[in-house]
Amino acid sequence: MTEATPRGRLVVVSNRLPLKVETNRAGACGVSPASGGLVTALGPVMRQRGGVWIGWPGIGVPDQRLAAEFRAAGLREGYDFHPVYLDDTERTSFYNGFSNEIIWPLFHDLQSLCNFDPAYWRTYNAVNDRYADAIAEKAIASDFVWVHDYQLIGVGARVRKKSPESSLGFFLHIPFPAPDIFAKLPWRQEVLRTLLAYDLLGFQTRRDRRNFVDCVRELLPGADVTGRGQPLVRLRLDGCEARAGTFPIGIDYNDFYRRASAPAVIGLAETLRDQLHNRQLILGLDRLDYTKGIPERLLAFGSALERYPDLRERVTLIQVVVPSRADIPRYQELKARIENLVGQINGRFTRPGGWVPIHYVFRALTQDELLSYYRAAQIALITPLKDGMNLVAKEYCAASPDEDCVLILSEFAGAAAELSGGALTVNPYDIDAVAGAIHAAFVMPPAERRARMRRLRRCVRRHDVYAWVDSFIQAAAKNETVPDLGFVSCYDLKS
Ligand code: G6P
Repeated sequence: MTEATPRGRLVVVSNRLPLKVETNRAGACGVSPASGGLVTALGPVMRQRGGVWIGWPGIGVPDQRLAAEFRAAGLREGYDFHPVYLDDTERTSFYNGFSNEIIWPLFHDLQSLCNFDPAYWRTYNAVNDRYADAIAEKAIASDFVWVHDYQLIGVGARVRKKSPESSLGFFLHIPFPAPDIFAKLPWRQEVLRTLLAYDLLGFQTRRDRRNFVDCVRELLPGADVTGRGQPLVRLRLDGCEARAGTFPIGIDYNDFYRRASAPAVIGLAETLRDQLHNRQLILGLDRLDYTKGIPERLLAFGSALERYPDLRERVTLIQVVVPSRADIPRYQELKARIENLVGQINGRFTRPGGWVPIHYVFRALTQDELLSYYRAAQIALITPLKDGMNLVAKEYCAASPDEDCVLILSEFAGAAAELSGGALTVNPYDIDAVAGAIHAAFVMPPAERRARMRRLRRCVRRHDVYAWVDSFIQAAAKNETVPDLGFVSCYDLKS
């Protein structure tokens, strides 16, 4: 870690602002800070060096009173918030459409779910223009602009056009697909070219970065790629030079650990265990999304009950599904499929007056509930078909100080690259193998559980979200063409 005087401010750009806009009974709007890993980690750096967070506040119509609320929130938090208002038509075509019916399924290897509607592409570009305009309005030459995730891929090139000297970073929170999948995208070259306008590109895993570099080599014949296998690969095209690296995102380990150790959480976890008559609790916890592999997981659980009768009446699966992207038909279909499978499995195995194998929860949990579920669960069943990282896996480890528990993790979650040493890794499509892993976790001796969980917790603690911010900003600061960003470690700031 280097010590230097901070100079440049940080301008963070994400689809959503980390603020909640709430309307009270009288119809007046107010804003309050939203929680989340990104804002927890970036907040201290922004407060220290000054900064602006640009994003959608969740509403479409600018309101003068709300503008004052944003200013007040900025004064409270120590950095500014700048809203980009999007109307319903823009949100439908940009957010539901291009972002979540094209890029989201395609980048998760589910190209058959894509709806390549050309109108979506046009709106995506128009909305990326709006974000770039907001950056042009708020950023100054010495700022470092850090753009987040797939909704805003095209923002960098637009900013670069307006002010060629800008320092621009981009982090992709979701996976990047292999060339044979990415090549299906009708706008594949445009998307790759716009990515090369950033100075620094961050990916979750080596696999994602390798896929991106392979796509550039195969689909942009004029591009020059050097430094393969090194921490940062250089990609040059038409006078642009981008560097690409791997920066696996983490969580605020200490915060999860501390909050999971609070008496209220321990009390809730004990109540939960009592209610389940001390059966082993298996936890599945996901946003409603077809990438999370929830139906496949339910089938595997049903198969485990069929094949391993010793599990019957001795385990309970709590499957929490947090509502998400409710306007998109695929998500509605998925909800119906999950509910049908839960009904089938419970119908097959429930013992009247006693054991119900699956407890299904369809809502967002409070923070204390979430932590108590983590604490009470002896087994976490985290089996996405593909996932950029999967922070639930890391949160589960941080919130399990007793260490008498097992993480079953999909090999296609980005987290598996770091956690395969302690987790039981599975192919989520292999129903028999997942069923076998559930049984193996159930019978695993306590000493092995503890040894594995200790290893996992060490890893999650070491690579926390502050280390992630540090490594990205440090890598950006090392670029000779970027002005001195004055790197100051998040660890020095977070208290
Ligand atoms: C993923 C994406 C994020 C997104 C989140 C929630 O983690 O990488 O960019 O914010 O899902 O999805 P939503 O559509 O509700 O923002």
